[in-house]
Formats: sequence, structure tokens, C-alpha cells
Amino acid sequence: MDKIIVKGGNTLNGEVKISSAKNSVLPIIAASILSGNKCIIDNAPMLEDVFVISDVLRSVSADIDIDKTSNKIIIDTSDICDYEPCSELVKKLRASFLIMGPMISRFGKFIISLPGGCNIGTRPIDLHLKGFNALGAEVSVGYGYVEAKAKKLIGNKIYLDFPSVGATENIMMAAVMAEGETIIENAAEEPEIEDLAKFLNSMGANVIGGGTDTVRVLGVKNLKGAVHKPIYDRIEAGTFMVAAAITKSKIKVCGVNEEHLKPIIAKLTEMGVVIEVEGESLTVDGTGILKPIDIKTMPYPGFPTDMQAQMMGLLSSVKGTSVITETIFENRFMHASEMKRMGANIKIDGRSAVIEGIDRLTGCEVKSTDLRAGAALILCGLAAAGTTEVTDVYHIDRGYVNIEKKLQGLGANIYRECY
Ligand code: EPU
Repeated sequence: MDKIIVKGGNTLNGEVKISSAKNSVLPIIAASILSGNKCIIDNAPMLEDVFVISDVLRSVSADIDIDKTSNKIIIDTSDICDYEPCSELVKKLRASFLIMGPMISRFGKFIISLPGGCNIGTRPIDLHLKGFNALGAEVSVGYGYVEAKAKKLIGNKIYLDFPSVGATENIMMAAVMAEGETIIENAAEEPEIEDLAKFLNSMGANVIGGGTDTVRVLGVKNLKGAVHKPIYDRIEAGTFMVAAAITKSKIKVCGVNEEHLKPIIAKLTEMGVVIEVEGESLTVDGTGILKPIDIKTMPYPGFPTDMQAQMMGLLSSVKGTSVITETIFENRFMHASEMKRMGANIKIDGRSAVIEGIDRLTGCEVKSTDLRAGAALILCGLAAAGTTEVTDVYHIDRGYVNIEKKLQGLGANIYRECY
């Protein structure tokens, strides 16, 4: 097991390069099943979640070559001959469920173990299943598995009760080779969905409106291979922007799309962080006096739940009262108790957290309870007095490429230790 040790107090400077988005690459790898031809992902992030979903595809006989030097993933799904991925792998990664839409679409049958709950909430899959049903699949759930069969998928109008990212992606992928037109209403609008639609279209699909609240998919007969370079990771960029603010530093974050970062830029600017965008880079100046703010997480273009923990860490040492309301996941405040161990004054009341900023957090051993919680604790450690030891680092490795090396490059005193 690894832990990350942070000696707080250093000011950061210089620039950091952002990797491609994990949450774009995972559905794109799943989508490659649809074509049955070779697909190439360039500049892919070399992350644990990417390795796990690749193993899930291998478990149904796909051939995947990951070149960690050139960050290239070559996927050949022509030989898929199993319709039940390894349940041990599926349980490791909820996003494994994203292969369901492509598998039903291409083979007309699929069986997968239920993903179950996870640290941040119960995360049901009812909306995915309703969508597959509406397209004509026969879906049954029992004995811990979901099974779907469909002689033929037929386009339909699907209204999502909630703009679920995963359900929008899964239904979109199932629909690309369905007969006729599918319309997904109240679809999630996250940039990663637009990226997936772009990849599907480069394989020959006809998806219109990916990344808006109405996605139209005109079914095509078959798809070809494609080469794709995913979008930048807006959450990794946001995490480094908070790193600048929490350490009262000025840094340059390279590899960003300003549009995707608008909700994060707006909130940091409201606090008094000065952000200047220049093309695909931005300068974040957190050297001024920062103010407390209120945040409510919302589906995109609202403030992302994946940045909630990092902002809680930052607000913990900003004088005054801030309130964070988490509306997406019902159990995504577990980092608060770890931050309290570092001296933070946070009170949780249902879906809201009231944060009274203190002068300075103090380092201690804290546990990373999920991916973003772990990143947030590292951020707290950068600003805290003394040494912070973040354990259960495997959560962080699921979604951040070399986080400690990137922070070292900015001048942080941070390193990894095996224990
Ligand atoms: N939901 C349902 N029924 C469904 C699907 C979702 O009730 O069938 C609920 C969930 O329980 C949750 C809410 O809808 O309360 C949002 O879930 P959504 O489906 O939008 O999330 P997801 O697709 O499971 C993706 C990201 C998450 C990110 C969320 C929200 C990927 C691989 N994961 O999850 O990323 O938090 O969207 O933006 O894209 C992370 O990167 O740390 C992470 C957790």
C-alpha cells in the first residue's frame, strides 16, 4: 500500500500540464466495442481506472494494447466472443457498466454483475435499464446480475428523470446502431458526453446534440474504427487551480478548455482568486485575500460534484462562513471528518456542510475515502502546518496521473511511500 506524505507550507510556482479526461476515456473505451474494428486513443491518461476497464474488455476477449510511453491505447474488439465480463473486475469499477449499451447493440445479448453501491452513494442504474428497455431490449435483474437480450434495437423517445451522465452515455451508445431515431431528453450535458458523441461520429455514427439536453441519434448499420484524442480533464485542472488558491500561490495550468471550467472559474473568482485565460492555458493567482462563498453542486453546467471536496478543503482555511450543498450524491461528505482531524471546523446537516474557516489546518494522518476526497486531503496538506500523511492512495491513483510528481514540479514538498 502507498501513502502520500505532504510537508505543508511551500508556495507553488511554475506550470503544470493537465492530462486527458478520465471520464471521457472510460466511455470511449467502452464505445470501441461498437465498431469491431481497430480504434486508437491518443494522449490517453495512464490511470488505474483506464487499466481496469481495459481488463474488463479483455475479459470478453477484446485485444487492448496500452503503450505507457506514448500514452496510446489500441483497441481491437473484432474477436469478442464472451458476453459476460469478469465480475471481480466489474465490481472494481462502476464505469464497467458502460459496456452494457455497446454490447447489447452489437451482440443482442449481455450479462453483467450489478455494480452495487459505493462510498459516495447508492448509485442505482435504473435509468440505464429504462433506456435499454425503451429501445426494445428485454432486461432482467436477479441473483446479483443484469441480463439483457434484444433481437433488434429500435429507436425511441426517452426522457431521463435525472440528467445522469452514465445513463445518457450508455443509452446513446446502445442507440447508434438501433433502427431509426432515438431522442434522449433531459440528457446530461457534461463535456465528456460531447466528446463521446464526437468519437462515435468519427466511427460513422450519427449523433446530434451530444453535450446538450436533447441528444438525437439516427441509427446506422455499422461502424468503422477511429482515432481520437480526448478532451482535457476539467476536474484535474480544477484541482490544481485550488492547489494555487490554498497555498496562496500563482501558477500556470496548461491544457484547459475555458468553457468546460466556467463553473469552477466563476466560484474561485467570486472568492477573490484572479484567473487569466490565454488560449489553452490559464494563470491562477491565489495570493490575494480570499472570501468565503456558498456552493451548490449541480449537473453541468452547474458546479461539479467532483470538485466539491477540493473546495471544502480550500474553504476550511478561508476566514468566515461558507456553505456547500451537495445535490448529486447522497453520501459525498466523508472527507469532512478527515478534514476535521486536520482542525477544520465543518458541520454537516443532511446535504449541506457549513464551514467556518480557520487560520491554518494542521497536518496528521488522514484517509482518502474516495478519489476526489483523497485529492482534497492532499490539497489540505499543502497548506497545513506540519506533515500530512494521506493513506489509501489507490483511490487517488484511479483518477490522477502522477499527482505527487506534478505537485513536486510546482515546488510542493510531497512524496510517496510504500508501507
Ligand atoms: N442515478 C440514478 N439512476 C441511474 C443513474 C444515476 O438515480 O440510473 C443518480 C445517481 O445515483 C447519482 C446521480 O444520478 O445520485 C448522478 O449520477 P450519474 O449517473 O450522473 O453519475 P455517473 O455516470 O455514475 C459520472 C462520473 C462521476 C461524476 C458523476 C456526476 C464517470 C465515469 N463518472 O458518474 O465521476 O461524479 O458522473 O458528474 O463519468 C469521479 O470522477 O470522481 C466521479 C465519481
